Amino acid sequence: MLNIAVLVSGGGSNLQAIIDALEGGVITNAQIRLVLSSNPKAYALERAEKHNIPHQVLARKEYDNSLEYSNDILKIMQEREIDLIVLAGFMTVLQGELLNTYKNKIINVHPALIPSFCGDGFYGLHVHEKVLEYGVKLTGATVHFVNDVTDGGAIILQKGVEVKNGDTPETLQKRVMQQAEWIILPKAVDLIANGRVEIRGNRAYIKE
Ligand code: GRF
Repeated sequence: MLNIAVLVSGGGSNLQAIIDALEGGVITNAQIRLVLSSNPKAYALERAEKHNIPHQVLARKEYDNSLEYSNDILKIMQEREIDLIVLAGFMTVLQGELLNTYKNKIINVHPALIPSFCGDGFYGLHVHEKVLEYGVKLTGATVHFVNDVTDGGAIILQKGVEVKNGDTPETLQKRVMQQAEWIILPKAVDLIANGRVEIRGNRAYIKE
């Protein structure tokens, strides 16, 4: 049984997708042992509450820097014996020993097709604003392992989404969530929980 912690900062729609996939049997061999939010007001916390999932706030604002924050996250993950950390709309960059201890055990969903529209400054709506500004016809989402490079870890899954005429950043974000993020993030969790993701070098491969 894979013990998962889901780290959140906002609405929690990706957390909800994981919860629904667990309850619907789309994800097997896994359970959410903790939801941890960097934001005390995150609606994601209410989603955890509704599904009786243990949850806590570790407010990023109470820390001077990301390193101290990351170190305290590591302590909590070890206390709770977490096997996989899932970043689902989590808006803080993780650093330090946490990334070593949990090497290839932290995954993130990014709302674009890495290596496009990613890296520092590319998060939330900003991603979709840049996609529309550039005029690409296909965007999508990526689930990848987390390392010390923002959006730089090995790619696990990607799914394309069509950009439509008249799209706004908001309509595009919603489509990318519905048609990509909410599908590939739970899928990646299930693949990992069932031992079907193999890392060779800095590439991830899905075992059939
Ligand atoms: C989404 O755009 C997601 O791609 C990004 O964070 C945003 C909010 O996600 N990672 P959520 O609704 O809080 O899961």
